[in-house]
This record gives sequence, structure tokens and C-alpha cells, in this order.
Amino acid sequence: MIVVGGTASNGMDISLSKLIGADLVKVETSKFPDGEIKVRVPEFDAKNAVIVQSTHFPQEKNMFELLLIAQELVRRGVNITAVVPYLAYARQNRSFYPGEAVSVNVVLDMFKVAGITSLITVNPHKSGPLMHFVGKVGIANAIDTIAETVKKSIENPIVMAPDKGGLVIAKNAAKVVGCEYTYVEKERDLYGAVSIKKTHGGDFRDKNVIIFDDIISTGGTIEQAARYAFDEGASTVSTAAVHLVMAGSAYEKLKNAGVTRIFGSNTVPFEHAEIIDIAPDIAKTLTGLGI
Ligand code: R5P
Repeated sequence: MIVVGGTASNGMDISLSKLIGADLVKVETSKFPDGEIKVRVPEFDAKNAVIVQSTHFPQEKNMFELLLIAQELVRRGVNITAVVPYLAYARQNRSFYPGEAVSVNVVLDMFKVAGITSLITVNPHKSGPLMHFVGKVGIANAIDTIAETVKKSIENPIVMAPDKGGLVIAKNAAKVVGCEYTYVEKERDLYGAVSIKKTHGGDFRDKNVIIFDDIISTGGTIEQAARYAFDEGASTVSTAAVHLVMAGSAYEKLKNAGVTRIFGSNTVPFEHAEIIDIAPDIAKTLTGLGI
């Protein structure tokens, strides 16, 4: 087994290769004068490879790099598992409005055509649509690993889910942190603006609130949830999410809402957060798939 680290592996390739006792080769990339990317995978002697390549911003470049790496390994007769810690285009899993393309299916079909036989990703927003992939699918759960760090960092905590859909994550995180959890009700208007309604139990007064979520994208959800927690008497508000996509002014929104600490994983790089390496969760998932 060999680990092949793409340029968007965020250090996970290094720790994963150590954890599974496999050698690591780093992919080399360059650009043609017109901006197209060129990929070179150094020679290695193995018949099975785990490619580590996340597909965060710039999504198309990172995705295409992954496809090029896979194509080259197939040409060498290597069996491929792709570890795609953040899977871009996975949130459009149906046509929300008539005529919209279902991007997750397109991505999964491309992976298959590129010769990827097994796919591992981390806390996708919904896992059901990934079953469209014709091959083995493993889903790593990074919440416990992130919650372990939160536990060591925040005193007198309460965990909050920013919407009902986040309840399972909050419950699991609270179990690890060893505290209460609750959720609020979130509504989005037609333009995507978030408003928060009421809590379902849980007392925020004088507590250090940690809002757990799978992903922070525009930051609107955490911004409104944090404001709500302060209105309800929270002493401090921090947030922990697996994928810190942090699009546009997300960071400023969180700062302005009074969020003091941001915890996340190395599925996506983000310089203003406390980043936790979740390679152990990937290693566990590989073992679970028998790879
Ligand atoms: C939604 O159900 C998700 O769990 C996240 O809460 C959401 O995607 C975050 O998006 P944003 O940061 O744009 O509010």
C-alpha cells in the first residue's frame, strides 16, 4: 500500500501514511501557460494506493487534480482508494428547483470513470446520495476527535446544535465533552438569510456555549446562533465544525457576533481556527472497509 498525497491534502497524507505504516509519495503539479494543470506522480512500487486529496476551494482545480492522479495510477494498473476529506459539489444532491443539475451524481460518476474503486469522505452533509457511487463508500466521523480537543479547551460548557438537523452531531459531541446539549430552530428565507427561533431546553446563562456543526459555509448559521446564545445569557460562544469552508466574509460574521474560538479539522485549511488532524478517523474508516 502507498499513500499518494495531492496538493490539497493539508498534511493528512503525512499523518495517514504514518498511521497505516505505508510509504508516501507527493504529487508534483505545474501549470501550462494557458492555466491548465499538469500532474506528475513519482514512481512507486505498490499495487494498491490511497490518494488523499480534498476538494475545497479552488474546487474545480483540486477535483481535476484528483482525477488526473487517479487516471495515471490506473494506467499503472494500481487499485485506487480516494480519500476526499471535503467532497465538493456534494450538497446539491437533488434538483431543488426545476432544471438544476444534481452535482453530487456528476462527481461520483467522474470518480468511477477515473478508475476510483473505493471512496472515503468525512461527515458529508447527507450520506445517502453518496450511495450513487458504484464502488465501496466509507464515511469517516470526525466529531468525536474534534470534541476531544474542545473538552480540553473549554470549561463550564454546553453544546448547541444550530438547527434540528445538527442534533445527532451535538448529542455525540456533548457525550465526549461531558456536558448538556440542546438545539435551536433555524429558518432560512428565500435569499438564504438565517433566523433562529427557540431552544429546546438547556440553560445558556453563564455557560461557555460551543456550537457544533458539520460545516460552516457563509457563516450565517453560526452568526445567528451565536447572537441567540448571547441573548440567552451565554458567557462566551465558540464554534466547532468539521469543514471550515468559511466562504466570503464568514470569519468576519463570526467575529462580529462575538465568537471567540473556532475549532475545525484539516479537511479544509483555515488559518484563523484551531485545526485538528483527523487522520485517525480516516485510518479507522479504511480498516472498516477492509482496505
Ligand atoms: C445545514 O443544515 C448545515 O448543517 C449547516 O448549518 C449549514 O450548511 C451552514 O451554512 P452557512 O454557514 O452558510 O449558514
